[in-house]
Amino acid sequence: MSTPTTPEHGTDRLKVAVVYYSSTGTIAALAREISETAEKAGAEVRLRKAPELAPQSAIDSNPAWADNQRATAGIPEASPDDVAWADAVIFGTPTRFGNVSSQLKQVLDQLGGLWAEGRLADKVYSGFTASASPHGGQESTLLALYNTVHHFGGLIASPGYTDPSKFTDGNPYGTSHTDAQGANPVDETARTAARVQADRVVRIARGVKAGLAA
Ligand SMILES: Cc1cc2nc3c(=O)[nH]c(=O)nc-3n(C[C@H](O)[C@H](O)[C@H](O)COP(=O)(O)O)c2cc1C
Repeated sequence: MSTPTTPEHGTDRLKVAVVYYSSTGTIAALAREISETAEKAGAEVRLRKAPELAPQSAIDSNPAWADNQRATAGIPEASPDDVAWADAVIFGTPTRFGNVSSQLKQVLDQLGGLWAEGRLADKVYSGFTASASPHGGQESTLLALYNTVHHFGGLIASPGYTDPSKFTDGNPYGTSHTDAQGANPVDETARTAARVQADRVVRIARGVKAGLAA
C-alpha cells in the first residue's frame, strides 16, 4: 500500500461524512465527486445516503429514480453516528420546492440527541444541491440547510469565490447543478465546483481541528 502524505497519517486522519439524498442520481453523482476529492486530499470519508421515505411504487414509476436506487444500493444509509464521527459533514439534497428534501431533513431531525449533548458543535459543515431550473431554489435550499447548522453551533465552510472557477459556476453558497429534469446530467462545471468545495472543506476542517486541539 502506498503511504499517504497527509499530516494526519498514522495519527488522527481528518474524518469527513458526505451525507446526501438523491432521487434521480444528480446529487448522488455530486456526492461521489465530493467523496473522492476529500479522500484524495487525505481524509477518511464516509459516503452515506439518507434512507428513502417514498413508497416503492413511486420509485418504480420513474425509471431514473429506480435506476439510481439500484446504482446506490451498496451505499450505507446515514445514521446519527456518522455525523458524530465526523470532523466535517457535507450535506447534499435536491431542491424540493426551494427547500431541503424530506429525506435529508429526516436525517437532520434525528440529530436531536447529539445536539442536546453539544456534539454537533465545532464541526465544519457545507452543502450542495441541484434543481431542475436555474432559478428553481438552489440558494434558498442551501440557506435553509445552513439554518440547521447554526442551531448545531457548526462552522459553515461555503465556497464563496475562493477559486477562479466560482466565477463560472456562480454559486458561492455551495455546489449546485441545474439538471433540466434529467436532460442536463452533472457536467464538468458542477464537478469542478464539487472538487473545489471538497478541497476547501478538508482544508478548513484541518485548520479548525488543529486549532481546537491546540
Ligand atoms: C417534489 C419535487 C419538488 C421539486 N422542487 C423543485 C423546485 O422547487 N425547483 C426546481 O428547480 N426543481 C425542483 N425539483 C427538481 C429537482 O430538485 C431536481 O430535478 C434535482 O436535480 C433532482 O436531484 P436528484 O437527481 O439527485 O434527485 C423538484 C422535484 C421534486 C420531485
